[in-house]
Amino acid sequence: MLTIHSLLRWVVLVLLVMATVQAWRGWQSKGTWTESSKRLGLFTMISMDIQLLVGFIVFVGSDLVKSATSNMGEAMRNPVLRFFTVEHTAMMLVAIALVHVGFAKAKRGADDAQRFKAMAIFFALALVVVVAAIPWPFRAALGRGWLPS
Ligand code: HEM
Repeated sequence: MLTIHSLLRWVVLVLLVMATVQAWRGWQSKGTWTESSKRLGLFTMISMDIQLLVGFIVFVGSDLVKSATSNMGEAMRNPVLRFFTVEHTAMMLVAIALVHVGFAKAKRGADDAQRFKAMAIFFALALVVVVAAIPWPFRAALGRGWLPS
């Protein structure tokens, strides 16, 4: 599951970047909202929902999380345990919520500009949160590989 979780990050990232760029362009160039604009947003949201599900399974089975939750006071003083148990999980939940709100607002937008604008802003915010919450290899003690090891 951790392997799937690690690989799925790339699917989430690629879709989130594509959907954000598409929405931003549509907003700025006063483009036409089409089925394919909506579909890209929907696929992005679905990829994040699957990642959420896999993340929960990883969370429940994780030895790291088990050791953290056995003594939360101590875990909060350990940057690695705190990151995976609290920060990573909470930030990803926020990002997933942002994508859901952005997609719902885009669907209900009064006109095409409103639809693109909602998706552009909420998806861009989600992208910033996701990038900040990934344990990239360069992140000192809590870094993990670019790909599953
Ligand atoms: C867009 C959402 C998410 C992305 C992109 C993401 C990405 C990642 C990545 C890249 C890793 C490191 C994998 C490795 O070791 O190679 C990881 C670890 C982890 N993730 Fe996520 N994650 C997301 C959401 C979540 C959520 C919602 C949860 C919990 C409900 C979660 C729980 C965890 C845990 C517990 C670990 C560490 C497990 C361990 O090493 O024992 N993740 N995540």
